Amino acid sequence: MSADDGFARFPELATERLRLREVQIGDAEAIHAFRADPNVTTAYGKEPAASINETRDWVEKRIADFGRRDSIVWVITSHESELAIGSCCLWHFDETFRIAEVGYELAHSHWGAGLASEAVTAVLRFGFDRLELHRIEACLLERNEASKRLLLKLGFRLEGKLRDRVFFRGRYEDLLYYGLLRDDWLNVRPVYPRA
Ligand SMILES: CC(C)(COP(=O)(O)OP(=O)(O)OC[C@H]1O[C@@H](n2cnc3c(N)ncnc32)[C@H](O)[C@@H]1OP(=O)(O)O)[C@@H](O)C(=O)NCCC(=O)NCCS
Repeated sequence: MSADDGFARFPELATERLRLREVQIGDAEAIHAFRADPNVTTAYGKEPAASINETRDWVEKRIADFGRRDSIVWVITSHESELAIGSCCLWHFDETFRIAEVGYELAHSHWGAGLASEAVTAVLRFGFDRLELHRIEACLLERNEASKRLLLKLGFRLEGKLRDRVFFRGRYEDLLYYGLLRDDWLNVRPVYPRA
């Protein structure tokens, strides 16, 4: 599959416990529940969404992004319920270099059950095996221990630190850059088996 095929129609993904599907405007309320939660947003240096309208705007932009081939945003649900409990994305595509960045967030009540590992693994598998990416990147605030652990567990390597790159709540914070190459992925074959 090429990048063209990847954007031709929305690539729904499934794991043992999760379904990763296209974000829809009807997801706004469920998404707002975690995007308005400071436990979630302060981890990546953003203020929580202030209103449901702000979250609706966010959802509309992400839907439009897919149409423009700017990003793929999946909502994370269980197999039993349509309710969005998180989201994952591939964005910042560079189709020439075959590079993208991965992002993820999960409702606080679902943390610590291995769900992010499971969802992100499916997104990486899609990026490498189906979009044939060469490299997937991630960046996070240095204090984000959960995200660091998740990336290292999936085979990412810490590649650098941009000092004082983010200004949040009155102070500058360092931003860490992680990378995973296609060869790393093929050799490491992390935690969750291929579907
Ligand atoms: C990052 C996030 C998605 C992780 O979700 P999760 O479902 O708890 O992740 P998992 O259960 O798959 O755990 C991944 C690993 O991190 C570890 N971990 C989780 N929370 C941790 C913490 N606070 N400190 C250290 N390690 C932690 C887990 O133990 C697990 O490692 P293990 O398998 O070796 O035990 C979740 O914390 C979140 O939504 N955070 C807010 C948004 C965010 O930071 N997004 C990323 C922006 S870069």
